[in-house]
Amino acid sequence: MSVVGCGYLGAVHAACMATLGHDVVGIDTDKAKIDALQSGDAPFFEPGLPELLEEALATGRLAFSSDVSDVRGAEVHFICVGTPQLPNEIAADLTFVDASVEALLPHLAPGDLVVGKSTVPVGTAERLTTLSDEADTGALLAWNPEFLREGHAVKDTLHPDRLVYGVPAGIEGDRAVKLLDEVYSATMADGTPRLVTDLATAQLVKVAANSFLATKISFINAMAELCEATGADVTLLADAIGHDDRIGRKFLNAGLGFGGGCLPKDIRAFMARAGELGVDQTLAFLRDVDAINTRRRERMVELAREEVGGSIDGLRVAVLGAAFKPNSDDIRDSPALDVAEQMRAQGADVVVTDPQALENARTAYPELSFADSALEAATGADLVLLLTEWADYLTLDPVQLGEAVRQRRIFDGRLALDPVVWREAGWVYRSLGRP
Ligand code: UDX
Repeated sequence: MSVVGCGYLGAVHAACMATLGHDVVGIDTDKAKIDALQSGDAPFFEPGLPELLEEALATGRLAFSSDVSDVRGAEVHFICVGTPQLPNEIAADLTFVDASVEALLPHLAPGDLVVGKSTVPVGTAERLTTLSDEADTGALLAWNPEFLREGHAVKDTLHPDRLVYGVPAGIEGDRAVKLLDEVYSATMADGTPRLVTDLATAQLVKVAANSFLATKISFINAMAELCEATGADVTLLADAIGHDDRIGRKFLNAGLGFGGGCLPKDIRAFMARAGELGVDQTLAFLRDVDAINTRRRERMVELAREEVGGSIDGLRVAVLGAAFKPNSDDIRDSPALDVAEQMRAQGADVVVTDPQALENARTAYPELSFADSALEAATGADLVLLLTEWADYLTLDPVQLGEAVRQRRIFDGRLALDPVVWREAGWVYRSLGRP
């Protein structure tokens, strides 16, 4: 099989498919990335991926290339390229999906199966099918959305919660299902549920799932706003409602909200697509989901200003965490860096640290300052902000950190620290949604 696009999704998919016993070639236009992967270096931080790459490359079943003609001979071709948000618009940019399919067309043989995994606006698969038919490739197209989380990508790919195959009707669809069942035979042997749908449903499943997750987070963050207005505690509230099986405690962690390369842009692209389909009112609530999420970042800055009497101008601020979430080096739409940048713009001297994302953060935010450790960042600080809940930060010693800072003030943007422990060590502890 071939895997076109070797980013967070494709590189992991290619390595996992080789581990399952398939012969895989990963394709990407970025030659440096291909060279790194071919020599067993993961071009981004993903736990377990370096070991998996090494193991799969050693079997000889995995190779990488920047020459798309190397897909020849593969029967199944996965499209794993990115669909970022268009600049100054809420819709998705499909340039990479279109370009990868166009690049594949001349190399497809009759009976080949092209499988979209990228998150796309519903209707894209149908349009790509027409492209392939017009080029008379004789290839089939299916949509098999990917639900992996960064930081858990290997496990999520090898042991997903479910497999979804969106296929065309009739015997073509039957053939696509048969091929995909061969691809995922080891996964299905584990008892993973597999759902066969039409193309439209499969494309919608992915954005529906991400919209639900984003809504869940913004729901609890809306409750956090109410807790702030009433002196209630959103963590206890989440625990209490989460005991109801129908609600569940997962994805009810209040705080700075969601970021990353998926949830924010997916809910926006979904709204844009609904508008094009003439049902924009249907997803109007996602505008609020997005707005609640953005407000949390502003509230964090406000909380800091409130605590120091109105202005953070000239204060030294230590920011713990730059990645959009722990166990990732991804800083796309990172709530932590957004807050850091807002505080810098208000005159604070902001020093950011992160166990894995420093290099990415430095490149994207050259005007911020950076430190290699939490202790170094906190030295001389007037405020310490915990904005990404890396395990390293949850075990920081408040006494030791207290000796490094100028003022013992900690703001917990992820409601991840124990207020009692920090207050006992002489710190002012404040968080979002908790008294
Ligand atoms: C998400 C989906 O989970 C995944 O299924 C999909 O394939 C891609 O998008 P990912 O972006 O890797 O995955 O991160 P996820 O773990 O979902 O977290 C998203 C954001 O929500 C992070 O910024 C995280 O900090 C935040 N979050 C998560 C909360 O604020 N509260 C929570 O309770 C959970």
